[in-house]
Amino acid sequence: MLPHTIIEPFRIRTVEPIRQTTREEREAVLRAAHYNPFLLHATDVLIDLLTDSGTGALSAAQWGAMIQSDESYAGARSFFTFEKAIHDITGLRHVLPTHQGRAAERILFTAMCKAGDVVPNNTHFDTTRANIEDRGATALDLPIPEGREPATLHPFKGNMDLAALDRALQEHAGHVPLVMLTVTNNSGGGQPVSMANIRGAHDICKRHGVPFFLDACRFAENAWFIKLREPGYADRTPFEIAHEMFSLVDGCTMSAKKDGMANIGGFLAVNDDALARKCRNNLILTEGFVTYGGLAGYDLEAVAVGLREALNSDYLRYRIRSIEYLAEKLVKIGIPIMQPAGGHALYIDAKAMLPHIPQSEYPAWALSCVLYLEGGIRGVEIGSMMFGLQPDGSEKPAAMELVRLAFPRRVYTQSHVDFVAEVLAYVYARAGSIRGMRIVEQPSALRHFTARMEFRVEA
Ligand code: F0G
Repeated sequence: MLPHTIIEPFRIRTVEPIRQTTREEREAVLRAAHYNPFLLHATDVLIDLLTDSGTGALSAAQWGAMIQSDESYAGARSFFTFEKAIHDITGLRHVLPTHQGRAAERILFTAMCKAGDVVPNNTHFDTTRANIEDRGATALDLPIPEGREPATLHPFKGNMDLAALDRALQEHAGHVPLVMLTVTNNSGGGQPVSMANIRGAHDICKRHGVPFFLDACRFAENAWFIKLREPGYADRTPFEIAHEMFSLVDGCTMSAKKDGMANIGGFLAVNDDALARKCRNNLILTEGFVTYGGLAGYDLEAVAVGLREALNSDYLRYRIRSIEYLAEKLVKIGIPIMQPAGGHALYIDAKAMLPHIPQSEYPAWALSCVLYLEGGIRGVEIGSMMFGLQPDGSEKPAAMELVRLAFPRRVYTQSHVDFVAEVLAYVYARAGSIRGMRIVEQPSALRHFTARMEFRVEA
């Protein structure tokens, strides 16, 4: 048989030790962190799958470009390199650098949204939702029904429900300043959106005269899924597919901490001249001058190289395969996961895995704590702790209770993935003994970052 294992397409020249801890140590530090994995010290974590954001390894080419950056305050060469990379991929006219994705969101929504407005998306991520709500507007999630059913197989589970979008644009006519589409759909399981769906949303927005934007954080992973799964795209390069995706939108927000392969950075790109002018004024006020937007010249260089590396086929093949590989192992054991595997992360369906814990006791949060306790693995809850608290202070259970295991780019190898599967098998065998949780203390917004929690004591 010909060799068929999809290998990590890189050699490792710089290494960073990770630290084994005992269960007793982990119990103590988790208690000290108020049972909130966000409050752990990273040095106490063995395999950190909290996020794929800003946690990737830089390539030699990125370091090389960074050393040669131009740190001029205005008009730095590094900005034009950054701008060109984004122009080449997106074709969008105006490029505004920002320190990360949420800064681009805030600047865009400040320019476009006012109280009473409605902004549809396939599923808003927590920062887009919070930035929209901060403007007094409503963030509306319109995923296809399959997107809310973890066990249902669908090649493009991140798709937007286009009929629902059309209805929303009629119902809220005059109050929808823009429509967004998140690729891949992070909160919905890292699931891709098809080109047909992007085109469909584009057509509907055009008919209603509403601008259409991508939340493009994982555009390269989305392009790879289109290549693999959408008829007519098998022979196209990820670059060509990405270019076509961006040709259908009026602009995008981007966190370069994901498919920009950088540790920090982001951008806002728009076609509309007047909108760009308005956004640039806000950029100068809050982020920095228009040619650096809160970033160092070397950050701009890292993103410019990273955006191209993210579209490399060997890299994308390995990237998407490593999540699928873990998914196959977990399915074999019987662990309920969001199917099919997502692009940047594997999502465990905690509602199905822990049916004895009601949503009001945050089953996915409990599972994330137990994964740390038993294996030193840090994942993140995407469930009722993240989304349950409503702007009016009331509590509404989230559509799904997921634990996301997000893989930093180019960081972990196959044996790390095997270890994660072993820890999950161990935890799954003891799932019945996992208790629900309660909130001890919480802030009024984005509560999951700082809330203090505890396991419930059975009566
Ligand atoms: N949009 C999506 C879809 C995201 O996943 C994120 C960040 C952002 C916007 C905001 O970007 O962090 O650079 O300000 N997601 C990270 C995550 C934090 O863990 O999924 P940012």
